[in-house]
Amino acid sequence: MAVPSEMKAWRVHAYGEEGNPADTISKMTLDTIPMPEPKPGQVLIKVELAAVNPIDWKLFSGGMHGICPVTFPYVPGFDVAGTVVKLGEGVGNVQVGDEVIADLGLVETCKTESPCGPAGAFAQYTVALASTVAKREGIPAKELVGLPLAGLTSYQALFTGAGGDFTGAPLGTLAPGQKLLVLGGAAATGAIAVQLGRAIGAEVATTASPNKMPDGTNKLDYMKKLGADDVINYKEADWSDVKAGANVDLIYDCVGTEEDWPKASKVLKKGGKFVTIANFGDAKSTEDHSFQAFLIKSDSEDLKKLVQFVKEGKLTVPVDCVVPFEDVPKVLTKSMGWASAGKLVIQVA
Ligand SMILES: NC(=O)c1ccc[n+]([C@@H]2O[C@H](COP(=O)([O-])OP(=O)(O)OC[C@H]3O[C@@H](n4cnc5c(N)ncnc54)[C@H](OP(=O)(O)O)[C@@H]3O)[C@@H](O)[C@H]2O)c1
Repeated sequence: MAVPSEMKAWRVHAYGEEGNPADTISKMTLDTIPMPEPKPGQVLIKVELAAVNPIDWKLFSGGMHGICPVTFPYVPGFDVAGTVVKLGEGVGNVQVGDEVIADLGLVETCKTESPCGPAGAFAQYTVALASTVAKREGIPAKELVGLPLAGLTSYQALFTGAGGDFTGAPLGTLAPGQKLLVLGGAAATGAIAVQLGRAIGAEVATTASPNKMPDGTNKLDYMKKLGADDVINYKEADWSDVKAGANVDLIYDCVGTEEDWPKASKVLKKGGKFVTIANFGDAKSTEDHSFQAFLIKSDSEDLKKLVQFVKEGKLTVPVDCVVPFEDVPKVLTKSMGWASAGKLVIQVA
């Protein structure tokens, strides 16, 4: 497949002021840069759509430098849907011409030598580790582009524990009939967790607000539509009061409010788990309940299973809007306001 020698890419040139990621947005530029070359084990993808995740702008502040160092300039963005146009040496799981999705991998791209620095999705072409890529199985890009990062995170939190928590302990053990409480069901990660819990036959409760989805449905009704058995309006009630004594097996926290873990003992059964993807403070497990925080591991085997859930009609990824490539700064700003109602998608090609 003919590949040009240059491409357009959004690039971040410096960290923003601490605690003010919006500051970095003003330093982002849309540049023409040389085409990246896939190394052994990597593939070059022509990007059709990319999707925004909060980590894209959380990286801007430098607050995560200890875990995920970046070198400047780098191309942000992790979620891509596109077509494989070139293979690095030793790649056997995909071919040129395959329509794929990938989470380029936060830890994976920060810790390995990557031609665009970490990430790389907000560009016309990107390089991905072949071990992070899954075929789209004929499903349109728009239905899948928001799946990789949010989907893998929730799948691993609930079921596989791929990378384990920060101590290496396994995470998800959710089983049919167990009780799951998702904090933040309208978040992209939360909406996927609600559906995955439902799909395996768990009893699912979640928190949401009456804010609107793009089709005008309020988020409380949207949660019901996705299969939640019980929806708590977090603007009016405290989930720990509503669910006190409910003997929940797993609380999956997609919000990250520090006050939530101390309240969990009212709701969790003895031996229950509080698994968070957004609270990396000093919280510690107690004798009765475990507290686990973790970072997603990008993995094509888990991603393939998620694509199957979509194919079988058990999982949909809500899309808030699709914006042109030029609007990357605008859509990142929207994500920073926690105001999205589904995935923020960027039309690259
Ligand atoms: N550790 C990891 O590997 C990992 C991986 C993925 C994501 N994350 C983190 O997980 C968090 C969620 O990510 P995401 O992509 O799912 O976010 P997102 O889709 O951007 O979340 C936005 C949603 O959060 C809801 N929300 C905001 N405050 C809430 C509250 N107090 N209670 C309930 N819902 C609330 C909003 O709904 P309303 O309009 O109702 O407020 C909005 O729909 C982020 O902090 C992200 O960085 C971590």
